[in-house]
Amino acid sequence: MSNMAALDTLERPLRDLRISVTDRCNFRCPYCMPKEVFGRDYSFLPREELLSFEEITRLARIFVANGVEKLRLTGGEPLLRRDLETLVSMLAEIDGVEDLAMTTNGSLLAPRANILKAAGLKRVTISVDSLDEAVFKVMNDVDFPLDAVLEAIEAANDAGLTPIKLDMVVKRGVNDADILDMARYFRGSGHIVRFIEYMDVGNTNGWRLDDVVPAAEIISRINAVWPIEPLPANYPGEVAERFRYVDGKGEIGVIASVTQPFCGGCTRARLTADGQLFTCLFATKGYNLKKLLRAGASNAEIERYIRSVWGARDDRYSELRASNTIPLEKVEMSRIGG
Ligand code: GTP
Ligand code: 5AD
Ligand code: SF4
Ligand code: SF4
Repeated sequence: MSNMAALDTLERPLRDLRISVTDRCNFRCPYCMPKEVFGRDYSFLPREELLSFEEITRLARIFVANGVEKLRLTGGEPLLRRDLETLVSMLAEIDGVEDLAMTTNGSLLAPRANILKAAGLKRVTISVDSLDEAVFKVMNDVDFPLDAVLEAIEAANDAGLTPIKLDMVVKRGVNDADILDMARYFRGSGHIVRFIEYMDVGNTNGWRLDDVVPAAEIISRINAVWPIEPLPANYPGEVAERFRYVDGKGEIGVIASVTQPFCGGCTRARLTADGQLFTCLFATKGYNLKKLLRAGASNAEIERYIRSVWGARDDRYSELRASNTIPLEKVEMSRIGG
């Protein structure tokens, strides 16, 4: 297999693969899976449409041979996929995987943190949209208690799934009053809080620009209380802009995909639970890797297909957002994994 990273039309290498293992979630965050749409009669993917762990691992190996260094498990909620630790251990064995992480809502993590770590998971990113119980419940919309997520953070820390990142999607008028509380609570904990601009992903969340709190505003609100200064990116194309507290109490980040898009450095491919390859979070169509797999394609054929898809890639949705006037039928966030 080729060891050269594939380059797209904008010369962006393929470096990260985000693997969604299920399109289901036990939360109904209104910005992602609003209840009115993802209700009782919503049809999620049937079992037989999901890639098996063997199929996922086979694809991941091919991606890694073509430049991918980072794997991230996503969902929906990845821990709803039965026996996820087995997949983790299969992926951890692939030579050339430098980072193996998971993005989770934390609700099911506490009892499994040690097993996941032992299987080879390196770190977790946990969504925490508020530290106010009432607001947290508005944000998950299933009455899920905050304590269980705080326990999961502890458990992940004890298991060594570190550095832990805590993602807060900020929606004006809903949880933006909690920004300073989040910063205060996790200052000095060693965990990295990231404040995320609410995005127009999918077709169902009713996004309006007025709901977005610009990263610059978030930074200035925090800086006014605890002075912060910028840090250099950890790696080229890092999504978050990093800052450190001047008093040494740790690091925070902002993800400004609306006000300061970062498509120029975007090295991410996304694989859905049913084996579709997406080259952008806002893509309208995927490329069917499952069909190739199940038609008996060889690794070389799959590799050629992936390289041709990546080679033709010209996505930069966030940079074009302002000039985009045609409504698109976009893929849902819960399918593509954020
Ligand atoms: P690290 O490896 O820790 O740097 O993780 P990450 O920030 O790449 O991954 P994470 O899943 O924590 O991403 C956080 C959030 O950033 C996602 O849930 C999205 O909201 C947003 N995000 C991640 N990647 C992209 C992207 O390619 N485009 C856009 N527009 N937003 C992204
Ligand atoms: N805007 C920004 N981030 C979102 N996420 C989901 N929906 C949105 C959205 N509309 C991200 C959050 C969540 C992760 C699973 O996906 O970071 O924690
Ligand atoms: Fe579930 Fe995460 Fe979407 Fe919330 S943001 S509904 S926790 S997948
Ligand atoms: Fe990458 Fe698309 Fe996000 Fe731009 S909008 S950073 S191209 S995933």
